[in-house]
Parts: sequence; structure tokens; C-alpha cells
Amino acid sequence: MSKILLETKNLKKSFNHSNGSIILFDNLNLKIREGDLVALVGPSGSGKSSLLHLLALLDDPNKGQIIINNKNTHDFKVFEKDELRRENISIIFQDNNLLTDFTAIENVMMPLIIKGENKKSIFKKAENILKEVKILNRSEHFPNQLSGGEQQRVAIARALISGTRIILADEPTGNLDHKTSKEIFSLFLKLKKLKKTIIFATHNRELANRADYKLYISEGNIKRANARK
Ligand SMILES: Nc1ncnc2c1ncn2[C@@H]1O[C@H](COP(=O)(O)OP(=O)(O)O)[C@@H](O)[C@H]1O
Ligand SMILES: [Mg+2]
Repeated sequence: MSKILLETKNLKKSFNHSNGSIILFDNLNLKIREGDLVALVGPSGSGKSSLLHLLALLDDPNKGQIIINNKNTHDFKVFEKDELRRENISIIFQDNNLLTDFTAIENVMMPLIIKGENKKSIFKKAENILKEVKILNRSEHFPNQLSGGEQQRVAIARALISGTRIILADEPTGNLDHKTSKEIFSLFLKLKKLKKTIIFATHNRELANRADYKLYISEGNIKRANARK
């Protein structure tokens, strides 16, 4: 069996609202292995985005622990979390978060520019990835010159360029048409073959059913269900 890359122990997340608190989940124990392609499903408001934010160490749980690549992050300082995230995790946010003052290709290059890699080689890599997600013909466009679906493909390309072993994607195909969604999913399958671990939140049943398994979250419960029957 392949090694466990992401683990949660007794994880709890709740939010306080003016009319009381809501518990998204409690005592959540997950073990996600290298090469797992996991669909996170459940109704809107069930906590999919919140869970992905926790796993990305962008938010703190109320209780419990998150272990990434054998490192228990419970007592990590902010800079330690940042470092662990940078080295291990790529995130595709629901609202793609592209930098508006930069072109598509510059957005994709950004994670490696921050790392200080050679610009020419970054440019080549970015071109290859944009080609792979079929958006190379828009590489010099700014985000506001792209459709929602095109922006999402650029965001996916940006997540892939750093080559991290964990990819967390929040409704990555939410703005995409059927055909492009399937192409993005094929890309996930390719990444899985490279032993990448991918967790993607989705409302798309067809894609969820093609994952290795589903995590179904609803009213404070998370159940694991086999996708393929
Ligand atoms: N920062 C926050 N403060 C308070 N409540 C929040 C916050 N983020 C999310 N929530 C609440 O938590 C619940 C789950 O949200 P979310 O994780 O975005 O669900 P999903 O992604 O499954 O649609 C929602 O009821 C939402 O209002
Ligand atoms: Mg969400």
C-alpha cells in the first residue's frame, strides 16, 4: 500500500454565528494516500471549502490535528506552515484568485518566480502547461479578458507548475463546459499516474464517480464511499 500523505486526527471545525455556532465536522479522521484521487462531495454549505482550507493549512481547526507528509502541523508557526504548503501543496481556489495585473502566462509562472528559478526555463514550463490545459492561445491575455472557464484553466495551470505532490482543488470544473471538465479530469488522471494526490470538491457526479473514492460531507458527517462500483 502506498504511503499516507495527508492525515487528520479528531479534526473539528465550527463557526460562530450571531444565532449560535455551526459544527461543520467533529472527530474527523482521514487517511489519504499518495496517488489517491479523491472527490469531496456534498451540498453547498456542507463544509467542502472549509475542509480544503484546513488541509491547505490556511485556516486552523478548533480541535484535532493535521499531518502532512509525516509532519504534524499542530504546533507549527505560520512560517512553518507556509513552508510546508509551498513545498507540498498546490491549491486551485473556487474563485480562481488570479492576479489581475498580470497576464495568463505570468500568473502561471508566478509560483516558480517566487521560488527564484530561472525565468527562461519557467517560461517554457508555463507554455507547456498552458498547452496541456488548452489555453496557450490566451497566454498574453489579462484575467479580465478571459471567460470564467478560461480563467479557471489558467488557475489550474498555475497550480500544476510547481509540481507539488498534493493538489487541492475547490470545484475546479465549476465554470467549465462538459467537454473541458472531462479534459481537466483526464489531466487529474495523468497526475495520479505520476503519484500525485488530488482532492477535488465537486458537484459533478460523473467526475466524482470516476475518482478513486468519494468523501461525502453532509450535516456534520463525512462518509467515505467507493466511487467505482
Ligand atoms: N469564515 C467563516 N465564518 C463564518 N462562517 C463560515 C466561514 N466560512 C464558511 N462558513 C460557513 O460554513 C459553512 C460551510 O461553508 P463552506 O465550507 O464554504 O461550504 P461548501 O464549500 O461545502 O459550500 C457555511 O454555512 C458557511 O456559511
Ligand atoms: Mg465551497
